[in-house]
Amino acid sequence: MIGNGDIRTPEDAAAMVALTGCDAVMIGRAAPANPWIFRQIAQYTATGAYERPTVEDRYRMIRAYFQMLLSECEATKDLPRDARIGETAGKMKQFATWFTHGVPGGAKLRAAIYQARTGAEVLDQVELFFTARAAETEVPESDSGHDPGAGPEDLAQAFPETALVCD
Ligand SMILES: Cc1cc2nc3c(=O)[nH]c(=O)nc-3n(C[C@H](O)[C@H](O)[C@H](O)COP(=O)(O)O)c2cc1C
Repeated sequence: MIGNGDIRTPEDAAAMVALTGCDAVMIGRAAPANPWIFRQIAQYTATGAYERPTVEDRYRMIRAYFQMLLSECEATKDLPRDARIGETAGKMKQFATWFTHGVPGGAKLRAAIYQARTGAEVLDQVELFFTARAAETEVPESDSGHDPGAGPEDLAQAFPETALVCD
């Protein structure tokens, strides 16, 4: 039996197992906002504690995501319109903005991403934002970037879907 519904944290997963005796849990909406949740659940099950993604983790995730998107976009640009990856890129743009929830100053990055007109510009904005952050010498303790990730409620606040083009 698989338990599913409203699992947003490792604690939720453990509670589902304890409550229902299910063999496994399935994660839906929390996964795109917090792709680390599966590792967190494994850690929590094994040790009773789990790591939160740092700002650097988020940066690597966003950058890898966009690099994959751009290379797929490039690889499919000669295909018929319906088969191009660019048609689904707007959705992936939303995902990248969700990853920035929990990053201090992330609202600025989300605004910049929203203004960007091409995939390359989006990636540039991501690089600029995180390079500037890394250059900051003093980061308050509260800005350590540890955050379990955006919750499913953030999915409802997503940016309007926008087409992202290769060039
Ligand atoms: C955007 C979206 C699409 C979904 N599509 C399907 C689907 O095609 N088939 C299905 O059985 N469940 C679908 N679901 C339900 C999920 O599999 C899951 O049961 C539900 O989201 C509850 O889990 P969660 O609280 O972890 O998100 C969908 C849910 C969402 C949010």
